[in-house]
Amino acid sequence: MEPRIGAAQHRSLLDPLPDSPHDELTINSPIPTLIKPMKILAIISQKGGVGKTTVATSLAVAAELAGQRVALFDLDDQASAAFWGGLREKRGVVTPVIRDVKMALLERDLERARNAEADLVILDCPPVQGAAITAANHADFVLIPTKTDILDIRSMRSTVALMQSINKRLSVVLTFCPPIGAEVDQARQLIAGLGAELAPVEIHQRKAYARAQQDGQTVQEYEPTGKAAAEVTELYSYIHKHLHGKAHGKATAKAKSARGV
Ligand SMILES: Nc1ncnc2c1ncn2[C@@H]1O[C@H](COP(=O)(O)OP(=O)(O)O)[C@@H](O)[C@H]1O
Ligand SMILES: [Mg+2]
Repeated sequence: MEPRIGAAQHRSLLDPLPDSPHDELTINSPIPTLIKPMKILAIISQKGGVGKTTVATSLAVAAELAGQRVALFDLDDQASAAFWGGLREKRGVVTPVIRDVKMALLERDLERARNAEADLVILDCPPVQGAAITAANHADFVLIPTKTDILDIRSMRSTVALMQSINKRLSVVLTFCPPIGAEVDQARQLIAGLGAELAPVEIHQRKAYARAQQDGQTVQEYEPTGKAAAEVTELYSYIHKHLHGKAHGKATAKAKSARGV
């Protein structure tokens, strides 16, 4: 494995972030050519209660388990992810790094994470249009969670349109999916009609998600061999491909719809 060169190699994502984003970089440092560029994933919906924080925390842990250095930025005043991170810390678990980040300081804190050699920053965004646009503008990829209920779908449509208006690469993931019923299929068809890609895995309504959170865990930690853990791992693998430009749209809603799935 190629060495990471420079003082920055000793910095943990857990260390206090430096005031100057460039304080560890030296002139002629080979760091920029050796380090993989940091990726930024924004989890966005203009609706509350659709599973944004749950998806954000689950994907953050999935990425950590896959060997990535991850920071989760909680941009929502509700601070659910930060609260979850506090529960985690009480149990002595300090990864992924969770930061309560003010929207106005997002750019600075992203720079600090980049400087600290994070591989991935996940943005857990508030259900607010202006914040969604700011976060999306920084992101390599946007994931839009939605329930299949009519009001959630309505809101998802406007979030998709907003992201399309700024040419963001995006995907929709269905959350709180019931085990049976026509809602999931109807949602798939509708998303195909929006010209938006649909994640090939659904997040189902499962008690494990909330139970895991009570202890500052995610479903992968709470029940590693459970169905919830499996769907999160699959979602992470799909998102990872998109972030690293290896997805070829195989699982688009249109394609699925054409196959009659
Ligand atoms: N797939 C799921 N199944 C069951 N409960 C869930 C699921 N996803 C999230 N929850 C629960 O629903 C509530 C809202 O989820 P949350 O992730 O906080 O939504 P948001 O961040 O969009 O407001 C939380 O109590 C969470 O534990
Ligand atoms: Mg939330």
